[in-house]
This record gives sequence, structure tokens and C-alpha cells, in this order.
Amino acid sequence: MPTSSRPRILVATSVFPSVLERLRQHFEVDAEHPHYPLSPATFRQLLADKDGSLLSGSQAIHAEVLAQAPRLKIAANMSVGFNNFDLPAMRAAGVVGTNAPGVLTETTADFGFALLLATARRITEAEHYLRAGRWKEWRYDTLLGQDVHGTTLGIIGMGRIGQAIARRGVLGFGMKLIYHNRSRLDAATEAGLQAQYAPTKEDVLRHADHVVLVLPYTPAAHHLIGAEQIALMKPTATLVNIARGGIVDDVALAEALRQRRIAAAGLDVFENEPAIAAPLLELDNVVLTPHVASATASTRLAMANLAVDNLVAFFTEGKALTPVT
Ligand code: DGY
Repeated sequence: MPTSSRPRILVATSVFPSVLERLRQHFEVDAEHPHYPLSPATFRQLLADKDGSLLSGSQAIHAEVLAQAPRLKIAANMSVGFNNFDLPAMRAAGVVGTNAPGVLTETTADFGFALLLATARRITEAEHYLRAGRWKEWRYDTLLGQDVHGTTLGIIGMGRIGQAIARRGVLGFGMKLIYHNRSRLDAATEAGLQAQYAPTKEDVLRHADHVVLVLPYTPAAHHLIGAEQIALMKPTATLVNIARGGIVDDVALAEALRQRRIAAAGLDVFENEPAIAAPLLELDNVVLTPHVASATASTRLAMANLAVDNLVAFFTEGKALTPVT
């Protein structure tokens, strides 16, 4: 394509140099922003003359943004989540949105399971205890946690990542599995995981020893887990959220943890990240990580490359590979 007629792409997030090189082979690339993340105002301003954009998944694309981006044809997330997209507004504006499914499934499931183990077995708390010089003697009751092997794993949201976590729990740790999902798994998958389907999320909360949230964030999922739902859980239970922050009412969770209403929680995502609800920071029975479940070098590269593949396919063949709009 002659340089002058090449589509203009805004890279709205930091990416590997090799990803920028790939983009530059096909597009006019605007990526000279030393201070990521871009503020919403800067993002809109830079998007005004662009045909497409590569996003981390946290830049909102809604009617107001679209009104100021008349040339925009595609927004490509390098994340599997796409709650940054206002889908009806994008459809109305004829803008395609894409996500990056599949390439991060196993890596994210590894982290989800690691967070479950760290939470149930108090691993970060134990390290802080040691580093603070509080370890004076071996005692039978130091930092007693909750068993993981042989217990009941509850999964809410049984898509690719949910199923990958289920495999780790059932096949690796001999756990029993109870799950809730919008649609039930097919009989063969259920049988392979010896999975018990729960018609409601409340059933999962009541019966599981460890609950992992892996469902997509939608307005209907906002504060799906609040004080009332946490009250259904066993006092020895743990709650792990690797989905999206808004799904859990962080303040209600902090209060339940403070009262030891449940044993512990592990959170990789937060309602207003990167800000963290202050009460959570004061607790020792919560493991907090900065939205890094998919963060390995090869997986983050694969996520970004899939976003590039989407942009290239869209502009060269007229069809994105993994559209969500
Ligand atoms: C995803 O892909 O949605 C991860 O949460 C990273 O944003």
C-alpha cells in the first residue's frame, strides 16, 4: 500500500517493540506517547484522525468518543475482556471491536490457580511474617490455612478460562467441582470434569470451599457479589476474582474479610483499578495483585499480536478475525 493511503492506527497502550514493527509494516502508526496510560482526553484527541486503534482493553469506546472519531473503523483490544466497548454505540457507528480470546487461557488459569493456592495457604502473609522477623519458633498453629486438595471448587463463569481452572483443580488437586454459567456445559465436558452444574450462583457460593470468579463483566454482573452473597459462603471459604473488579463490591468484601465472615480472598482485579479500596489494604487475609493474570512475556506478546492480526485482516481482507461487535 502506498504510504499516503495506509490506514492510520493509534497505539493507545504500551506494547513490545516487535509489535510496533509489525504495525509499521502495514500502517501509519501513532505510538509516540512516552506517558502511557493516555488520559481519556488525550485518547480522544489522538483518535480523531485515526482509522483504527490498538487498545489494552481499558480505553472506553462509547458514543461520545465515537462522535469525535469520524474515521474510526476498528478498535482492537489486546485483552479477552471487552467491557470497555459500548457495543450498541459501536454497531450504530459501524465500528468493529475485536478482542484476543484463546491465547491467554492457560496462562490466566495458571495464575488463577496460583492465586487460589496463595490465598488458601496464606503464602504472601507467611512471607511478610518471615521478612518482618516475626518467626521465632516452629509452632503447630502458625499461619494455619485452608486445604485445597480434595475440597470443593466453585467456579462462576465457565468459559475457556473457567474450564482451564477446573481442569487444574479436578485433575491436579482431586477437587470436586460445582459451577454456574449462563449455559450448561455439554454432557461430555461435564462428565470429563465430573462437574456438578448449579442453576444459580448462590448454590455455588453455599457449597464451595473455594470460589473463583471468571465471568465477563457486563452491567448485569455489576456487584454480583456483595454482602448478601458473601454471607452465603462458608466461614472457611476463600473467594478469588480474576475476572473484572466491578463484579465484586470491594467495600462489602473488605468488611466481610475484616469480620472474618469468610477466611480469605485473592484479588487480581479491582473496581476502580489501579486505585484500591482503602479497607482492603489494611487486611492481612486478602492477597492483592495488579491485574497480572495474563502477564507472561509470551502470552502478552501473543495477545498483542492477535490484536495486530485483527487490524491487518480487517484492512487487507475486510474482515476481522475475532470480532465481538
Ligand atoms: C484480559 O485479557 O481481559 C485480561 O484481563 C487483561 O486485561
